[in-house]
Amino acid sequence: MSKNYKITLLPGDGIGSEIMQVAVAVLEAIAPKFDLSFSFEAALVGGSAIDTTGHPLPAETLAACRASDAVLLAAVGGEKWDKLPSHLRPEQALLGLREGLGLFANLRPAKVLPQLIDASSLKKEVVEGVDILVVRELTGGIYFGKPKGIFIDENGVRRGVNTMAYTEPEIDRIGKVAFEAALKRGKNVCSVDKANVLEVSQLWRDCITNLSADYPSVKLSHMYVDNAAMQLLKYPKQFDVIVTGNLFGDILSDAAAMLTGSIGMLPSASLGVPNSPGIFEPVHGSAPDIAGKDLANPLAQVLSAAMMLRYGLNELAAADYIESGVMSLLDSGKRTGDIMSEGCQLLGCKAMGEALLSTLD
Ligand code: IPM
Ligand code: MG
Repeated sequence: MSKNYKITLLPGDGIGSEIMQVAVAVLEAIAPKFDLSFSFEAALVGGSAIDTTGHPLPAETLAACRASDAVLLAAVGGEKWDKLPSHLRPEQALLGLREGLGLFANLRPAKVLPQLIDASSLKKEVVEGVDILVVRELTGGIYFGKPKGIFIDENGVRRGVNTMAYTEPEIDRIGKVAFEAALKRGKNVCSVDKANVLEVSQLWRDCITNLSADYPSVKLSHMYVDNAAMQLLKYPKQFDVIVTGNLFGDILSDAAAMLTGSIGMLPSASLGVPNSPGIFEPVHGSAPDIAGKDLANPLAQVLSAAMMLRYGLNELAAADYIESGVMSLLDSGKRTGDIMSEGCQLLGCKAMGEALLSTLD
């Protein structure tokens, strides 16, 4: 009997549907090899959901996600919806999904691939061999802390407020994710905070330090966030797993992503408690400028599907198979525009997907 998984697809906006089609074709192609089958159900999210229902995250979409084994998301957003009030913007769908599914752990790998080493804007010697996993806390910190809002004081002066707060259990659970991940990688955790200034960071540092007693084989270090930004550019190879709060993780994960040269290759996973559905999505956005032109790189979406198999469904062999297929595809010199270099063959989104399918066959 083959195992069946219910997957909610959220193609979203821009290039979303083009790259999603490739990822779905890949999952369907490899399924029989691993005795798996998938039931896909697509739902609306982001700008396309606003256009149809008036809301970036319709209740039916959240319900469909909750009822599935995993969620594969592409990207949301575009200029068309940029002028809407903030609670109705496409980005709100991401925050609503994270909160609604309790996805407190965001895993953002940034691995420099030898085939694409020239794509980085940094020197080859600096980025060669870089393999970092940013573990970002995703449902707490300043993104969700209360009070928040724009308030008017008695003098009629407006005051914008957000609150950076973490509780001990929130820090412990994300810390555990980081230490567990490090055990399977380089056994090195760097916790990033601003403990020289912020009390919330002092608690963060204290909790992570206490937690490290449970992981004697993992080496823990602490770094202030400003220094971490600098070290990522100066000597990125020193990092294995970086664990940090929501806002610092948002910023540092983009910096780490750019070490690899192309954001078009990077997947991510957002996970909650065990056995609850996670969301798997590319790090890049909806790229409205190239949408519908068959120019997008589908590989981050495909690698997100592989992360879904690995972290969401525990189908490790199938995940390995897709990832090694992507490596062979790159070895064969096939490229989309964002990762194109001399002597390689330039393909569109669809053709890249077809080339991958024949590699996987
Ligand atoms: C990300 C994005 C989101 C975030 C935005 C779009 C809400 O930048 O996933 O990193 O800040 O978390
Ligand atoms: Mg971001």
